[in-house]
Amino acid sequence: MSINLNQLISEMTLDEKIGQLNQVGTSIYGGKAENYETLVRQGKVGSFLSIKNIEQANKLQKIALEETRLAIPLIFAEDVVHGFDTIFPIPLAESCSWNTTLVKKSAEIAALEAARAGIHWTFAPMLDVSRDPRWGRIAESFGEDTYLNTIFGKAKIQGFQGENSQKIADDHLAACAKHFIGYSACEAGKDYNTTDISDYKLANVYLPPFSEAIKTGVLSVMSAFNSLNGIPASLNKKMLYDVLRQKMKFSGILVSDWNALAETIIHGYTVDEEDAVEKAINATMDIDMSSLLYSQYLKTLIQKGKVSITQLDQAIYKILSLKKALGLFDQPYRSSPDKYKQLMNQYPKHRKIAQEIAEESIVLLKNTNNILPVTQNDKVGIVGPYISNKSAFLDTWACNGKADDIMTLAEASAYHSNIHILDQVYAKYIQNQSLDEADKNEIKSMDKVIIVIGEEATESGEAKSKANISVNQTQVQFIKQIANVNKQIITILHNGRPLIINEILPFSTAIIEAWHLGSATGNALLNIITGKTNPSGKLTCTIPKHIGQIPIYYNHFNTGRPFDPNKFNTSKYIDESIEPEYPFGYGLSYTQFQIVSTSLSKIEKNHWKIKVHIKNIGSFDGKEVIQLYIKKNGGQYIRPIKELRDFKKVFVKSGEIQTLDFDITLDTLAYFDEHYNKIVDFGVYDLLIGNSSVNAETNKIRIEVENNDSTK
Ligand code: GLC
Repeated sequence: MSINLNQLISEMTLDEKIGQLNQVGTSIYGGKAENYETLVRQGKVGSFLSIKNIEQANKLQKIALEETRLAIPLIFAEDVVHGFDTIFPIPLAESCSWNTTLVKKSAEIAALEAARAGIHWTFAPMLDVSRDPRWGRIAESFGEDTYLNTIFGKAKIQGFQGENSQKIADDHLAACAKHFIGYSACEAGKDYNTTDISDYKLANVYLPPFSEAIKTGVLSVMSAFNSLNGIPASLNKKMLYDVLRQKMKFSGILVSDWNALAETIIHGYTVDEEDAVEKAINATMDIDMSSLLYSQYLKTLIQKGKVSITQLDQAIYKILSLKKALGLFDQPYRSSPDKYKQLMNQYPKHRKIAQEIAEESIVLLKNTNNILPVTQNDKVGIVGPYISNKSAFLDTWACNGKADDIMTLAEASAYHSNIHILDQVYAKYIQNQSLDEADKNEIKSMDKVIIVIGEEATESGEAKSKANISVNQTQVQFIKQIANVNKQIITILHNGRPLIINEILPFSTAIIEAWHLGSATGNALLNIITGKTNPSGKLTCTIPKHIGQIPIYYNHFNTGRPFDPNKFNTSKYIDESIEPEYPFGYGLSYTQFQIVSTSLSKIEKNHWKIKVHIKNIGSFDGKEVIQLYIKKNGGQYIRPIKELRDFKKVFVKSGEIQTLDFDITLDTLAYFDEHYNKIVDFGVYDLLIGNSSVNAETNKIRIEVENNDSTK
């Protein structure tokens, strides 16, 4: 029987209505369960955050259903960002796979595990386009490109919610597009800091992933902590109502970030808590996460006539609609301890998929003299702080993941007699600040030395901005000491953000960017370094040469004085290059690919197809990512020097050719004006095709968009 929500709302008291807008979770009550139970009995809570225990969830649900007047079921929410029990690579790593199928699959598995543990709603995907690696939360993003954040955000939402956003099955979760809006543009890369973003930039850089998320049926959006153009994003009615609700037609749940309503006072915007609540409900904020201000002030505001019952009912309707979409009125207990336990039998299968996406997330940055892959004839030594340090790989959103479940490189390599795990070398180096003779001799005896360094997973994520993103000096000196006795160095980086690696580059014959890969870290890395899997990852965030270059990203404007070595007054530094260490879209393979030909055919007016023939001219089978960028001069606004608008990842056997088709329509070329209207400029475009943002110029195809009234 389908519940009649308007009927239910008509039966609710004012207190019962206000209770539904209140989300309680984590530290605000110190996590004391007895407080939670009392709140449920009193009808003062509609949803919980961070209850990851099926027994506790079902106990609270039972109270809601059997000890409250209207038995409205509770929703349980959690940050299931990159896995629940099985931990997948961080989103920044997954984005480097350029594999939407795997990105969606990892969300499906995360949803299944979390749903069986009693969770209904995940606060993911994060869609903040991230151009500043000082910002710790770049780790949770899909990198610096708007198109990729759009594509991967869509894949995650489909993975979390399933195909029908109005009927979320009991092995899926409601998703949440966050953080609306501009959070990643925080000044100086400092988390929670001020943002000032023009309408043109909001429309073309930060909003498109949210537009696509809404079209994909995302059931909720979370507001951001930052102030945007002088108003906190959580109360910014222009963005929340005029743009999100009206222009982008979002009719789902708007939830604040944790305690964000209370913080609008600290921002200096609202005068007191009642003012914060009035402005929030007027901006159509439906759920107050953990500030408790809605439950304290909404009744007063309604009695004063400052907030209407209609506004309250509109929020209630959306919250109850979410509970209906989750099937909670018919099946309030979507899981049980037994169902959760039974699922564990599938965990080995989940880990295999975690390994597959981890392998595709790894980016080979350098491989001089093809030192990689190592062979069985190579005597290989592995040293460094992250060979067997399990806890180093769990980040702030590792959810229910356990360090013990992480497969390390040391464990994965245990059965390779030619691979020697020299765990003690780094430990002794830290103690003595030098290598002892025995270790030097052992290092010298190796054909190749793999050095595993980087940053702990807890050095990135929320509230983890860094002013210095260089590899730390202890690790730099360690590499130099190793290089004194053996030059055949392969460096593996584990990090949650691009690091400045110029000091270790000269000593690294090869460099692998391995990010934080989650449960299957060791297996994935071993398969890559031994060549069982050919690396295929491509950077989705620029790696700077120097921190002073930040923000540095590929899709920048040309300026009126672009760098020119033969001219004096151009846009440059006098003390550093303007070029990145490694650019967006870049990643090597153990084989080589060649675009042997491209051809353009016009299907009809303003609709083209491009055929690309790609050949594997090397000796390894492998996958390549062919990227399509557009370039437009002479439009209504300045456009970036190039913009990624499509890509294809393809497997090509050694010596073979594969054909790729790209479909070019006006949508491929569209962008937004400063009023958030989609526009297309007429005239000439260049389409650039390559396997990174820097070599796409070599395959340039020109098309012309005809004016609508032209008869051609
Ligand atoms: C945090 C984060 C947000 C998360 C929320 C709940 O502060 O900003 O992304 O979903 O609180 O944990």
